[in-house]
Amino acid sequence: MKLKIKRFNESKLEPYIEEFNVTHNQTILNSLIEVKIKNDKALSFRCGCRTGICGSCAVRVNGVERLACKTNLNENDLIEAINNTKVIKDLVVDLSHEEKFLKTTKSFLKELSKEEITSKDEKLIDIQSNCILCQSCFSSCPVYEVNNEFLGPYALTRALRYVNDKKENDKNGILENIQDNGVWDCTLCGNCTIVCPQFIDPKTDIMNLRMKSVQEGYEDKSLSAFNSFDSGFDPSGGFNPNGF
Ligand code: FES
Repeated sequence: MKLKIKRFNESKLEPYIEEFNVTHNQTILNSLIEVKIKNDKALSFRCGCRTGICGSCAVRVNGVERLACKTNLNENDLIEAINNTKVIKDLVVDLSHEEKFLKTTKSFLKELSKEEITSKDEKLIDIQSNCILCQSCFSSCPVYEVNNEFLGPYALTRALRYVNDKKENDKNGILENIQDNGVWDCTLCGNCTIVCPQFIDPKTDIMNLRMKSVQEGYEDKSLSAFNSFDSGFDPSGGFNPNGF
């Protein structure tokens, strides 16, 4: 069975595609391991658990984000590194944005409340807690592609997880941190929801964060321009070019 891998190393300057023959009926990760053992020990990729838990093996398969350890190889599949970040070598990418956005959103327990947690409360943050940081959502995000300061689906889903966590006292602090380059910048395209291997729905999480932001008095700053007198925006639906 044929497998194509988009490769990159600094000595070649430009990425190039290389073809390999591998055995049938195996996962993409096992195929990569086979190529590394039989063809090229320098082939670089990440993996850890090999069972879909650690999230380290995310790649793009024919342009779509997948976990290599949970996806079967098909004839002529093209395997590439995930998108929207620097490729270090072959399928290994720079993941430093992960830490940066966690710190920006401050999505972690800061002010511990003494409230008792029930199983119903746990359910509220259950799905968002399942994120395995595979970065598939970032890779598929068209907003992050053009604005690398956009907090992106994973960090915003993580923000909702802590806004909904009864143990966190400073929910408003988290909402404050996601107003710029955050909740209002998402186009709600839903790519992140489609590619998430954990069936998390960042698009809906972001809509929930918008609702909670409005409840706390925040608004989409880009709409303020439309509401100003000089903008020519007519709330009834028309547009007055003279601005009155
Ligand atoms: Fe851990 Fe694939 S190796 S998720």
